Amino acid sequence: MRIGTIGTGSIVDLFIDSAKQIDPNLITMVYSRTLEKAKAFAQKHDIDHYVDDLTTLFTSDLVDTIYIASPNSLHYPQALDALNHGKHVILEKPVAAKVEQYQHLMDVAKANDVLIMEAITSMHSYNLKWLKSKMDLLGNIRIVHANFSQYSSKYDAYRNGMIPNVFNPSMEGGALVDINIYNLYLMIELFGQPKSFDYLANLGHNGIDTSGMIIMDYGSFKASLIGAKDCAGPYGFTIEGEKATAIIDGGSSGRMHHISITSRNTLVDESYQDDYHMRYEIEDFKSAIDSHDTTTVDQWNQRSLLVLSYLEKARKHAGVIYPCDAE
Ligand SMILES: NC(=O)c1ccc[n+]([C@@H]2O[C@H](COP(=O)([O-])OP(=O)(O)OC[C@H]3O[C@@H](n4cnc5c(N)ncnc54)[C@H](OP(=O)(O)O)[C@@H]3O)[C@@H](O)[C@H]2O)c1
Repeated sequence: MRIGTIGTGSIVDLFIDSAKQIDPNLITMVYSRTLEKAKAFAQKHDIDHYVDDLTTLFTSDLVDTIYIASPNSLHYPQALDALNHGKHVILEKPVAAKVEQYQHLMDVAKANDVLIMEAITSMHSYNLKWLKSKMDLLGNIRIVHANFSQYSSKYDAYRNGMIPNVFNPSMEGGALVDINIYNLYLMIELFGQPKSFDYLANLGHNGIDTSGMIIMDYGSFKASLIGAKDCAGPYGFTIEGEKATAIIDGGSSGRMHHISITSRNTLVDESYQDDYHMRYEIEDFKSAIDSHDTTTVDQWNQRSLLVLSYLEKARKHAGVIYPCDAE
């Protein structure tokens, strides 16, 4: 795997730093819309090749995989272009705004004999595997509650009338797809589909969801998942069973670095994961791409499609409408 990157935000810094822990030569080229910025970004990360033109990136022999970390509305067209040039694609979350878009990307990947996958750090973490192996300790689950309330550094500008990408319907932003997606992913990975589902959102001055709460009814237990960019609260993801409680400090995003299981206030078990932020997912992607493991990638993609179907339903139910919804 030899990766070219799109985007110069902080997540790409993390991605490159994590990739270099696995193989210093994994990232071979970076793209930015301006050559000056591309050069500065490449120099910062000690990468030899930089471009300001996507076609050059997509046709380069130095690259077989494109990591896309652009604003959400560009995920679908950029991924489509990369796949049609015969490149594998690692796509930041959310993969698309609509199920039909991601299904189409999967079809195009298959037709071009390349792979596409969603970058959801938590789904590849060691601690997720650890948690799954300990779920029996909890007994019957009764309540799950999650909070990812992170006051956005861009919210002040938004309140002052500006529209940063993450609060822009045209860029397919909003709190649901930006951060509550992590809570939703973990719920669906651990418990599958709920019997009923709702999304109650606080909408800002341009109709975007600045915060909101997903309510899920699994019959024998209930869940509430909060994602907020307009206020702050203690992060966490807590699974309460009749026998014990699992607490993911820091919540459902990233590597879920510490999980503890307690029963009647006594620690039963715990796990730490202190590795480089995105290491596990990049290792998984490298292994899948190097061995052309379509079976594993298809399993990841079925999960991506399922989560996307809930994101799309929730967003539309809350009245958050993107321009692509009219297409
Ligand atoms: N996995 C994670 O933990 C994680 C964390 C944060 C973000 N993300 C995802 O990563 C993606 C990028 O997030 P971000 O916060 O970095 O987004 P962003 O700052 O809005 O944009 C990312 C990059 O895209 C380019 N860009 C910005 N505005 C653009 C526009 N109007 N048209 C074309 N290109 C534009 C910029 O790069 P250039 O100026 O260099 O072209 C910018 O660095 C999102 O999909 C987000 O969901 C994932």
